[in-house]
Amino acid sequence: MDFSNSLKPFAFLLVCLLLWQTQTDAATCSDCFTQSRAAYYPNSEENGTETGACEFGSFGATINGGDVSAASDLYRSGLGCGACYQVRCTNAKYCSDNGVTVVITDSGSSDHTDFILSNHAFSKMAQTKDAAASLLALGVVDIEYRRVSCSYPNHNITIKIDENSNYPYYLAFVIWYQQGNKDITAVQLCETQNYSCKLLDRSHGAVWSITPPPSGPLSIRMLLSGSDEGDETWVVPDNNIPQDWKAGATYDTGVQINV
Ligand SMILES: *[C@@H]1O[C@H](CO)[C@@H](O)[C@H](O)[C@H]1NC(C)=O
Ligand SMILES: *[C@@H]1O[C@H](CO)[C@@H](O)[C@H](O)[C@H]1NC(C)=O
Ligand SMILES: *[C@@H]1O[C@H](CO)[C@@H](O)[C@H](O)[C@H]1NC(C)=O
Repeated sequence: MDFSNSLKPFAFLLVCLLLWQTQTDAATCSDCFTQSRAAYYPNSEENGTETGACEFGSFGATINGGDVSAASDLYRSGLGCGACYQVRCTNAKYCSDNGVTVVITDSGSSDHTDFILSNHAFSKMAQTKDAAASLLALGVVDIEYRRVSCSYPNHNITIKIDENSNYPYYLAFVIWYQQGNKDITAVQLCETQNYSCKLLDRSHGAVWSITPPPSGPLSIRMLLSGSDEGDETWVVPDNNIPQDWKAGATYDTGVQINV
């Protein structure tokens, strides 16, 4: 008996099942691309801007090899700061399959765009150097995007104390190098002696602040929220912010989100 022939209908059925499975997965859409448009910073250096609305400073211009972006709706009043997106342009003649992965560090829109990419990121969507020149000449291009995990090998989540902080009365900071694809939706600072905690405000951009901050060495807690309802986890780092924290200083939390 020829098994290979008798198995053919089953193989066909299997392919159908797999296709059906792929379709139902697509229906949940966690990996789906959304159609949109992207421009790039006018008159920009290759990287992003140090004065981005997220207030990440020079980190916001150069993180991820300078592949950063301003977002309009995806900025989400600052909640979107630090989120990563795969962005690929759709013109088959010029565009590569994978496009580029960018980090949101600024707010902005232009002619129905979701992204204003750094020059470096915009060019990276192209197949070749020549194609990049053609894309840049177009100015605004059709793209598709999806949220992806950020990845910062060799970095822990790091607290950067804002230059405007005023010890010990006013403490403000941004959070650098958060891996994964979740949002930081709340931050607490706890006194390490007696564990009384205070909830911070995200005052503007990605800046968390509190007046007056708790005293003593401070333990920070970050609430990470995913897109699914109830997907929330408090992350509590190993390292404290030292008692005598300084404006402008960076403090390694000693933890990272696994991706
Ligand atoms: C862009 O950022 C990279 C680091 O990501 C840095 O090495 C490079 O010097 C920057 N370029 C400019 C023009 O600032
Ligand atoms: C907790 O301890 C700090 C000193 O480490 C002190 O300043 C603060 O008043 C204490 N808070 C409470 C609620 O006891
Ligand atoms: C991250 O934190 C861990 C634990 O404190 C430490 O061992 C490691 O060296 C840190 N990694 C970096 C890149 O600083």
